[in-house]
Amino acid sequence: MSNQHSNAISAGFSLNAGDYDKAVRYNIHGAKRLIDALPGPSYDDVLDVGCGTGFATMAFVNRFGTTNITGVDPAVGMLEGFRAKLAEQPSLNVHLHAADVLAMPVPDNHFDAVICSMAFHWFPLKAKAAIAMAQPLKPGGDMAILCSGRGGEEEFKRILTEINPPVPQWVGTFDIVQRDIDEMEGYLEGADLEILDIWMERRIRRTPVEEFLNRMRVVASHLNAGYSPAELADLDAKITAATERAAGPRGFEYTFTKLFAIARKPA
Ligand SMILES: C[S@@+](CC[C@H](N)C(=O)[O-])C[C@H]1O[C@@H](n2cnc3c(N)ncnc32)[C@H](O)[C@@H]1O
Repeated sequence: MSNQHSNAISAGFSLNAGDYDKAVRYNIHGAKRLIDALPGPSYDDVLDVGCGTGFATMAFVNRFGTTNITGVDPAVGMLEGFRAKLAEQPSLNVHLHAADVLAMPVPDNHFDAVICSMAFHWFPLKAKAAIAMAQPLKPGGDMAILCSGRGGEEEFKRILTEINPPVPQWVGTFDIVQRDIDEMEGYLEGADLEILDIWMERRIRRTPVEEFLNRMRVVASHLNAGYSPAELADLDAKITAATERAAGPRGFEYTFTKLFAIARKPA
């Protein structure tokens, strides 16, 4: 995946930042489970990579009471959403940087914890990203990552596979973003981190079709690049109709697979 593609991803998130919190309420719960898995007992300084509108930071603050926070995300619109939330948190000392994971303006060996919730799967160079995230971590500090896991949303992938004319970049995205445990272990060990805990969560969800598709529109709008508005409207109508056909009385049923990892930088 090129830099240009990476810019398209963050531009997509910026564009839809206003709808993000509503559309991805599951990410709030996932961020909380990720933060709950950190061993603690306390962390003074935290770096949130791909911080978006700050779900993971807020879960971290709620659990550990940490006040020194640095957030990095190239999507300016998402950072604005985060800033708006901070108005209600005057006691926090927060630095937000609009930057890519591979160009973070943060010091080495400085943070007690580095967290990254539902962003790692979008990083184009994952092995390098893991190294870039380990660098600012203090020896003895902990890293927590939550990202898309292999096998998720197979039901939607099947629908996309059958759309005519084909939508190769949509179908191909599943392979680009989803990771299995052994792949994540490779990235963490490649960054000289010691794995403390790593697991996959697999759920079956039933969601109203429109709610499911709205989440997809918010998190994957960069895949629309290259289509004219008329083509997009046609594609959206076909995908909606096919998802409605696949849905049952309890909504669209799909597999939701998330990969969690906790690792430590050796002291
Ligand atoms: C699904 S959102 C997750 C946001 C937040 N961490 C949360 O839990 O809700 C993914 C975020 O990753 C950011 N992102 C995408 N590519 C990135 C990159 N190369 N470097 C840093 N952040 C990136 C996006 O801009 C977006 O805000």
